[in-house]
Amino acid sequence: MGDQNRDLFTSKFGVIAAAAGSAVGLGNIWKFPYIAGEYGGGAFLFVYLGFIIVIGLPIMISEFMIGRKAQKNAFGSFKALAPNSSWRITGLFGVIAAYLILSFYGVVAGWSFHYAAESCLGNLVDKTPQEFESLFVSFIEKPILPVVWQSIFMIVTAGIVLLGVQKGIEKYSKILMPLLVIILLVLVVRSVTLPGAEKGLAFLFKPDFSKFTMDGVLNALGHAFFSLSLGMGTLITYGSYVKKSNNIGRTAFQVSMADTLIAILAAIVIMPAVFAFDIAPGKGPGLVFITLPNVFQQMPGGQFFSVLFFVLLGVAALTSSISILEVIVTFFVEEFKMKRKTATLIAGSTTALVGVFCSLSMGVLNTSVFMGKNLFDTLDFFASNVFLPLGGLLIALFVGWYFGKQRTEEELSSGGRFKVNYINVLFVSLRYIAPIAIFIVLVYGIVENLEIYLELDIMPW
Ligand code: TRP
Repeated sequence: MGDQNRDLFTSKFGVIAAAAGSAVGLGNIWKFPYIAGEYGGGAFLFVYLGFIIVIGLPIMISEFMIGRKAQKNAFGSFKALAPNSSWRITGLFGVIAAYLILSFYGVVAGWSFHYAAESCLGNLVDKTPQEFESLFVSFIEKPILPVVWQSIFMIVTAGIVLLGVQKGIEKYSKILMPLLVIILLVLVVRSVTLPGAEKGLAFLFKPDFSKFTMDGVLNALGHAFFSLSLGMGTLITYGSYVKKSNNIGRTAFQVSMADTLIAILAAIVIMPAVFAFDIAPGKGPGLVFITLPNVFQQMPGGQFFSVLFFVLLGVAALTSSISILEVIVTFFVEEFKMKRKTATLIAGSTTALVGVFCSLSMGVLNTSVFMGKNLFDTLDFFASNVFLPLGGLLIALFVGWYFGKQRTEEELSSGGRFKVNYINVLFVSLRYIAPIAIFIVLVYGIVENLEIYLELDIMPW
């Protein structure tokens, strides 16, 4: 089934840089630190790590395996491996999810570009916490400025994707990922050497079982999924660019460990700094865009570290967004026989356009689109709570029950070259553990949102 002319990753490091580049993103840097602290620190970390290994890793291996075996885009892979069946819908879900995610992801990434520029210009100093909050809120509600930054971000994303797998994705991942690690390490050193940093480290790592609830468990699984870029065919697409000589089981292990390590390092940057300056750890986007500027302005060398931090965030978002756009572009190229240039132009501009409406839904177009949510939150909800878990569930079932152990082992071993002594454990997860766990999270996510909505609907005032 090999395609002689397929643009493949050239080196082992290239595969890891690209896949880790996809995995490491906004999820690691702004979301992980906050939820880890919120749900009981060490206790949450322990469970999160468990989910990464028991459920995330098996699905990552499956995605790589499907893509490399089929040598096709997310949709075409299912068509090739399961001819004349409905399994291809799984791939189609992936392409739809890519559209939804990239639209709002580009908006948040644009915010980090704006904050990098603002801190370069020295505009993030001498402010009270309230001023930082209103600065952020009034910025994201503006009609033009966030859209400009989001468009710049999307142009850079499309520019890299346009160059192709080797000259675009692989080349830039190999430059940007080491850069990201260096920036992160500089920030870790700065943060843990601040007086009072221990309190933040304790908040992060000391298991607090009183805060460790069912909600925490479910969040840990949902986030493990998002953080590893699973359930959407991103890693099927990247897997289709991996050579047969690559040990994909080992690569998946390395990528998932790198992703987890970087999330923990990001938390080590943020929490000690927040505690050293006695600022309450804020929520969600606020932690990065409101709390942190407040921390940086009080820190020696703060402006420098602030620029570094927002560049880090932008770089992390960029290597993730190229992996999302690539899912749509390869789908267009292979299923509609488009040129890469045309496909990138269409996919890039249409996701950017939906993104513009997402951005506007923070301000002038802030109306309810679905269950009381604006467009931004609606896309986030459908992508994270419906499409990704559903995609992951179907992928686990596909490999576990349809594709089967024998063919999987054959592909994972690259035709006998590598030992696959984990095959039985892998299949216990793919057949039973992963589907059941994901199903619970899927139902829970929908029910929880429904509950919140019904409360809002009954008591709107
Ligand atoms: N993993 C990225 C993050 O943590 C986001 C991402 C990239 C993603 N590709 C994906 C999430 C595919 C789900 C599916 O920010």
